[in-house]
Amino acid sequence: MLPISIKDNMPALQNKYYFNYGGQGPLPTESLRAITTSWQTIQKLGPFTNDVWPYITKEVISTKNLLSEICGIHPKRIAFTENVTSGCILPLLGLPFDEGDHLLISDCEHPGIVAACKELARKKNLSIGILPVLKLCNGNNYEAKTYKTILKLIDTNLQKNTKLVVLSHLLWNTGQIMPIELISKRLKDHPSNPYLLVDAAQSFCHIPIKDACDKADIYAFTGHKWAYGPEGLGAVALSTRVLEESSPTLIGWKSLKAEEGIYVNNKAPFHSDGRRFEIATSCIPLLAGLRSSLKMLENEGSETERFFKIKRLSSILWGELNQIKNVELVLNSSPPSGIISFSINGINSPEEVVNYLGQKNLWIRVLEDPRWLRACVHITTEQTEIDNLIAAINGFLKSR
Ligand SMILES: Cc1ncc(COP(=O)(O)O)c(C=O)c1O
Repeated sequence: MLPISIKDNMPALQNKYYFNYGGQGPLPTESLRAITTSWQTIQKLGPFTNDVWPYITKEVISTKNLLSEICGIHPKRIAFTENVTSGCILPLLGLPFDEGDHLLISDCEHPGIVAACKELARKKNLSIGILPVLKLCNGNNYEAKTYKTILKLIDTNLQKNTKLVVLSHLLWNTGQIMPIELISKRLKDHPSNPYLLVDAAQSFCHIPIKDACDKADIYAFTGHKWAYGPEGLGAVALSTRVLEESSPTLIGWKSLKAEEGIYVNNKAPFHSDGRRFEIATSCIPLLAGLRSSLKMLENEGSETERFFKIKRLSSILWGELNQIKNVELVLNSSPPSGIISFSINGINSPEEVVNYLGQKNLWIRVLEDPRWLRACVHITTEQTEIDNLIAAINGFLKSR
C-alpha cells in the first residue's frame, strides 16, 4: 500500500489556502490518531501501574532516537520541552554568568526570548548588545557575501567579556538563514568563548539542520511548526559543554538521577544528560503524534529534497509578488527558505490585507515588528494556492 500523502491527511488544508506554517503547521489525522491510540494504551495499561512504565520508557526512547537522527547528534544531548521558548530559556538561565558579562542578541529574535535575556541581564547585572542582522536582505543570491557580512558583524559586536550570542538559525521575519557553523567557529576562537544559543523554531524540518545543531550550545525547536506535529511538544539539543556547565533551573523529579535519598547529602542529584532540563509529568501521547508526523515527512522525500521543493515554491511566490506594483518584498532576490515577507504601499494597516485575504479563505499573517506581512510555503503548498494568493492580493489592490 502506498503511504498516505501528508496533504490529503490534513483536515486543515482541505478547506483553506494556508500560508502560516511558520506560525503553526497543520496536524495530519494520522498523527492525531497516533496520539489518541497512545492515550488509550496508557489508560489500558495504567495510568499508574507497573505495566505502563515500559510503554512510557519505549515512547520516550524511540522519540529521542528519531530526533537524534534528524539532529545528527547523540540522544543524550536532547531534552524534551513544551515549546521553543522553554527550550531556549531553561538551559540559558542555568549558564554561569558573572556580573558585568555581555550578552549579544540579534535584532531578529522572538519577543519572549528577548524579554528573558533582558530579565536575566537585569537580575545578574549583565549588559546587552544588539547584533544587527535585520538589514541583511540579499535573499538566496549573494549568500557568500551575506555570510561574510555576518561574520564581520559578529567580529565588530563581540566584546572581550561577551559570554553568550543569541541568534536564530532561520530569521522568522526576513527568512534569511544564518551560518551557524561558521559563527560557532568564530566564537570558539574568541578569547571569552561565548555560548551560542540558537532559536530553531523556523529551521527544524524546514532547512538542513545537522551541522548547526551539532555546533550550537543550545538549539531549541518545536514540533508544532514546520514538522506538522502537535502543539505542546518541543525539544532542545545541548552541547556537552552546556550539559557540564549549566545547572538545571526549573527543577523537578525528571531532572533527578534518583528520587530516593534527596533529603540526604547528595552533591550531584541531577542527570548529566539532557534530562537535567526536563521537569516533571508531561503529555506522553504527544510523542507518538510527533513521531507520526516526522515519519510522514520522511515519506515525502529526504530533508534535502523537501528543502529543494520549498525553495522552488518560494521562488515562484517571490517572483509573482515581485511583479505586483505596490508590493515591497523584504528580500532582494528569491528566498533561501519558505518564508516570504513583504509590505504593501499605501495601506492603513497590514491587518486590512490579512482580513481581506481571510475572507477568501487565504491565511497569511502580520508580524509584530517590523509590521510586515508574512506568507510561508511548505511541501504541502501547491501552485494553485500560490496563484490564488497572487490573484487575491491583486484583487485587494483593485478594490481600493
Ligand atoms: C523564531 C521564533 N521563536 C520562538 C517562537 C515561539 O515559539 P514557542 O511558542 O514554541 O515557544 C516562535 C513562534 O512563532 C518563533 O517564530
